[in-house]
Amino acid sequence: MKESIFIKVIDRFEKAHDLEVPLGVPLSLMEVCKSYELPVEGVCGGMALCATCQVYVESEHELSEPTDDEWAMLDQAMHVKDNSRLGCQIKMREEIDGLVVRLAPEQV
Ligand code: FES
Repeated sequence: MKESIFIKVIDRFEKAHDLEVPLGVPLSLMEVCKSYELPVEGVCGGMALCATCQVYVESEHELSEPTDDEWAMLDQAMHVKDNSRLGCQIKMREEIDGLVVRLAPEQV
């Protein structure tokens, strides 16, 4: 079993960041981005209530289906695309090793 995985995050200036994420710690993608000081606000603290953690999923990984709360937030958010997800709802696990996401524009 792996001890860590790698996630690629493309920022708003097209710069790619390869983030190493330890497994066994219940982190969300939003929390990982913040720990690497990427510009992800996460205003609501991961409650699916703000969309400031929105990302576009660019790899083919199978993610868990969005919850009703996530759908509801994405319904109200700006800059939403078919591949939009809330970073706070993407939990780090071995199966998403190699995930590629792009930060959505700020919610302003
Ligand atoms: S941190 Fe607010 S919706 Fe994800």
